Amino acid sequence: MGLGYVGLSTTVTMATKFETVGVDIDRRRVDELSAGKVPIHEKGLKTLLAKGLSSGRLKFSSQAFDLGSADAIFVAVGTPSSPDGSIDLSQVRKAATDIGGLVRVSSGKPLVIMRSTVVPGTLSTVVKPLIEETSGKKSGAGFWLCSNPEFLREGSAIADSLRPTRIVLGAAESGSMSSAKALYRKFYGRRTPQMVLTSPEGAELIKYGSNSYLAAKVSLINLLANLSETFPGTDINDVALGIGLDPRIGKQFLQAGPGFGGSCFGKDLKALSAYLRQMALDPSMLESVLRINDFQPSHVVALADAAVGSLAGKTVAVLGIAFKAETSDTRDSRSIPLIRGLLDKGAVVKAYDPVATLPESLRGAAQAKSLRDCLDGADLAITMTAWKEFQKVRPAEFARLMRSPTLVDARRIYDPAAYSKVLKYFAIGRGGNGPG
Ligand code: UGA
Repeated sequence: MGLGYVGLSTTVTMATKFETVGVDIDRRRVDELSAGKVPIHEKGLKTLLAKGLSSGRLKFSSQAFDLGSADAIFVAVGTPSSPDGSIDLSQVRKAATDIGGLVRVSSGKPLVIMRSTVVPGTLSTVVKPLIEETSGKKSGAGFWLCSNPEFLREGSAIADSLRPTRIVLGAAESGSMSSAKALYRKFYGRRTPQMVLTSPEGAELIKYGSNSYLAAKVSLINLLANLSETFPGTDINDVALGIGLDPRIGKQFLQAGPGFGGSCFGKDLKALSAYLRQMALDPSMLESVLRINDFQPSHVVALADAAVGSLAGKTVAVLGIAFKAETSDTRDSRSIPLIRGLLDKGAVVKAYDPVATLPESLRGAAQAKSLRDCLDGADLAITMTAWKEFQKVRPAEFARLMRSPTLVDARRIYDPAAYSKVLKYFAIGRGGNGPG
């Protein structure tokens, strides 16, 4: 139920083994998927979708009713932020009510698996009572209920679904746990990863804990990157390596840049902060992580301004519109506040992305048709995502296409030694180059 990134990846993955129906209220999406068209850029999705459809195991529907005879129902509906940052559970409530209707008439005992990210207590105090109320049946008697958060990264969501690092299951009754374990053992067989078995609240916390930790790593390295810029000869990449080689810390998620974006980190940290406040606990650590992240695009604008003297009237090429490489998703992309900041400073902005398009809200900027078109005649280029296409651009090519070849490498995708020989090269976290 719910065919966003998580629901769709789960659906096509499950269809490699099981009869699977993907349900979404968006009829257009259902029609497109039924015709084999993918609505998002996600590696491997098109192939698995085609395989599932041709095998006859995979179907799509806009009617929850079509899940009536399912042995297991995955809930993967959206959990957006309310205006005050707290979690908006309206789609979860609707899904639970629909499932209650299915359980009511079911002759079996379906397993309901909660994949959507929800604050601790949601499964037990919102989902369970709603299903019980609508179905007239009790959890453990008329249906099984389990929390099972996902750890899929956009861009590698299919690979992550086929080879997860762990399976987290949170259930109140042993029958629900056994049923969920059996489903996954049947699916993954000998390749079943380690399972973490806990309470529903434990599982819900693991999801928020994982995203909070990853976001905190990114904000910490960005804070240190900005500080590194004040010390000539200091480079954040060396600092990150020195920190990350400690096995207690690890090298991943220490890549300095314009901050984290996407549909998860910001939303989840805000939801957990609001929830902590509600529980009279201190959310300030998470709030700092968010504050550092909010600041980072304006820091890139300041670097850009200093790089060209003043941005007013300058043509700026922004490389990357999506929130990271390998996705078309622009939700919470750092390129959005960056482009707004550049426009506010009077720059003329052209942006290019291999698959993403500029959101409506950025009408003041132009979408370039190609990378070459974007760089052509620009005074300054800023790298905002690490697409391979961008990584391949040689310094001489920048110099040939641009009016005044100046580069702000906000994603740190180029070798400073090679690029600074040919271009005016500035980078996040590189001492002696920034406004300080
Ligand atoms: C994230 C988590 O990584 C998944 O485990 C989780 O399941 C998912 O959220 C979710 O909650 O559904 P995703 O948002 O797809 O996945 O993207 P990430 O690869 O985690 O990147 C998030 C942001 O952090 C991106 O903007 C990325 O560019 C940035 N980032 C990441 C850095 O700036 N530096 C790094 O070192 C790593």
